[in-house]
Amino acid sequence: MVVHDTITIFDFGGQYTQLIARRIRRLGVYAEIVPHNTTLSNVRHSKGLIFSGGPSSVYETDFPRYDLQIPNSGIPLLGICLGMQALAHQFGGRVQRGKIGEYGSSTITIKDPARIFVGLSAQEKVWMSHGDSVEELPDGFKVLAMSEDGIVAAFSNPEKQVYGFQFHPEVSHTQDGTKMLENFVLDICGCNQNWTPGNYIQETRERVRQQIGSSDSVVFVSGGVDSTVSYFLVAGTEDIGRLYPIFVNNGLLRKGEAEEVQERLTRLGVKGLIYADYSKMFLDRLKGVTDPEMKRHIIGDSFIEVQEAEMKRLDIDKNAFLVQGTLYTDLIETGFGVGKDAHNVKTHHNVGSRLVREKRKLGLLIEPLSELFKDDVRYVGLELDLPEETIWRHPFPGSGLAIRMIGEVTPKRLATLREVDWRYVQELKNLGLYRQIWQAFAALTGVQSVGIMGDKRAYKEVAVLRAVKSEDGMTAEPFDFPKGVLQRISERIVNEVPDIGRVLYDTTPKPPATIELE
Ligand code: XMP
Repeated sequence: MVVHDTITIFDFGGQYTQLIARRIRRLGVYAEIVPHNTTLSNVRHSKGLIFSGGPSSVYETDFPRYDLQIPNSGIPLLGICLGMQALAHQFGGRVQRGKIGEYGSSTITIKDPARIFVGLSAQEKVWMSHGDSVEELPDGFKVLAMSEDGIVAAFSNPEKQVYGFQFHPEVSHTQDGTKMLENFVLDICGCNQNWTPGNYIQETRERVRQQIGSSDSVVFVSGGVDSTVSYFLVAGTEDIGRLYPIFVNNGLLRKGEAEEVQERLTRLGVKGLIYADYSKMFLDRLKGVTDPEMKRHIIGDSFIEVQEAEMKRLDIDKNAFLVQGTLYTDLIETGFGVGKDAHNVKTHHNVGSRLVREKRKLGLLIEPLSELFKDDVRYVGLELDLPEETIWRHPFPGSGLAIRMIGEVTPKRLATLREVDWRYVQELKNLGLYRQIWQAFAALTGVQSVGIMGDKRAYKEVAVLRAVKSEDGMTAEPFDFPKGVLQRISERIVNEVPDIGRVLYDTTPKPPATIELE
């Protein structure tokens, strides 16, 4: 089995921390994120270290503390933005507070084409986002690049193998940022590019085989990429007990989805798929509920009940393992020892439910994607030969259409929304736009508006279309449609769906709006 090299990123609270990890992973090197206060003894296995950026300042009391031995450890270290200022401060340099802040695109001049800048031009376009800057270098450090505003853009202490960038090499606006990260990771840290989807599959299956042994396991599949990849990772593991894939219909699925998912999963080779229709139960419980959080709670709790009921109904051993597609991002958000401090916790339903907590406590949880970001999962899925329609399927929340209709969830409104959403997505697919968009869907606003149809006054519900570009769903930008497309889709919806009188397009980015309406 291939043992992969690791780059460890200390999270100082920066908005781009995950992006750094993902860029490095695309180089074929495993990158993990740990809280800023992780000690040196816990990262000795790393071939390189990165201090991320962050919103704080080295002079503030909320500055994220770190183990001061780390920069003296001899393991190559790159500090980015706040990470660089922390290094300057620790080694006796001077950090200037907010005198010349730089935000946005900037050009740096490379003064020393040392190893980290090998293969780059004398001037490079970079992305800056800082208030503080390094005014005086510590002893033993030298300037590698200056910004157009005359601040230190990059420095290094070659003896200590410590580097600092005032700009962000991980964001795409830094033109050759990937090359800079590559120089650090491959040349300076000496990492091998052996963290490939193929090796990941092999390693994961070995781990799963050891964990599950001859026991049975259950996986709740939804047709989405995460649960499908999880299923195939486990199903392809040799010498383990029986695997039960269960698909639950909660009555909040899109048009034809229950049939389409069963047909597709069976065609892909999912064996013995169990279909459990609980739509009536979910809809009964949602009757009269309009509060978004209440909807989510009812759906979340019902899901857990259903999962437990199905395991009982199928007489699955209570010691069976539960396989689920928890992603690295879910763990980061929930503070499970990766990324942020525990006080930033927000409990994801799939990480924190009763069944999951119980299984976790008993060591009966299998999370084969827990080290992966969404894009990693897609690469693993491609390696598993899953078809593009599954790999590039837009995310669909477990709470389904219920959180895409402001107001009460009724069978009639569900039927209307299914028709609107189906037409919207069909059009996107026909126009070849579906793949360019990270997530697109229609929603109902709960607002009626006046119109005129066939010479008569009409008073019908307003639908809204959402389409966003994103990397991981944490931030998102509205998709910029080619001219005429939205008019065409809106015309089709209003003409063909009797209960809709008007169609709006949501142009709000995340933040401040979330992707879903509720
Ligand atoms: P928001 O609306 O928070 O969504 O910007 C970010 C991403 O997460 C999806 N989402 C969910 N997925 N259960 C899920 O499985 C949920 O309750 C849930 N809420 C939001 C959303 O579709 C988007 O991709």
